[in-house]
Amino acid sequence: MHSDNAAAVDATTFWEDRYGDAGPIWSGRMNPALADALPRLGGGAGARALDLGCGEGGDAIGLASAGWQVTAVDISGRALVRASRAAVTAGVDERIAWVRADLSTWTTGASFDLVSACFLHSPVAFPRVEVLQRAASLVAPGGHLLVVGHAHMPPWADEHAHDVHLPSASEQVAELALDEASWDVLVAEDRPRLATGPDGSEVSIDDAVVLARRR
Ligand SMILES: C[S@@+](CC[C@H](N)C(=O)[O-])C[C@H]1O[C@@H](n2cnc3c(N)ncnc32)[C@H](O)[C@@H]1O
Repeated sequence: MHSDNAAAVDATTFWEDRYGDAGPIWSGRMNPALADALPRLGGGAGARALDLGCGEGGDAIGLASAGWQVTAVDISGRALVRASRAAVTAGVDERIAWVRADLSTWTTGASFDLVSACFLHSPVAFPRVEVLQRAASLVAPGGHLLVVGHAHMPPWADEHAHDVHLPSASEQVAELALDEASWDVLVAEDRPRLATGPDGSEVSIDDAVVLARRR
């Protein structure tokens, strides 16, 4: 997601403003596509997960609660403060390393049994494909890559957002360009989900869900 109206704003400023001073902007719960995939991801003691664009920590906290050691990265310090507080409340903060970084340039020498990127969209300039390809390189043999995006914007998104093409699941697979000799694509599906709009109404929107396993 990238729209010209926001292009002039740098990513840190945009996201710090988006999180604002008020309360949470996300549900605090694990994303349904991750919850759905969880039973097939292995996990168990010592399993390592990387959550890219972790926001207020719903996925990271859910993974830590399921026993994963999580590294959770986001550009927004405000989001990470909320996420860390929620993790303390949930009693899992010790299992999560919160990293404030710009994923446009961030990388690590570590590898992970799960790399998850849920709704890693940004209306400001963001090399999403490059970031996701780099993320795939961080998956350990036998580990999984989960990418979940909006296949289209919900009706309540601002009008500029609707001008932006969002990749379907099959387009995300093409963008990832995973080496067929090393990866099995287990799921590539535009999956309907009921979402609640700002006025409380429920609308079905499609998530583009890709789950791949490194051999
Ligand atoms: C749409 S939110 C999704 C948050 C969370 N994954 C979820 O599903 O609730 C996108 C997140 O990506 C983060 N983000 C956007 N651009 C980023 C960047 N360049 N580096 C790191 N994080 C970024 C934002 O701060 C925000 O928390």
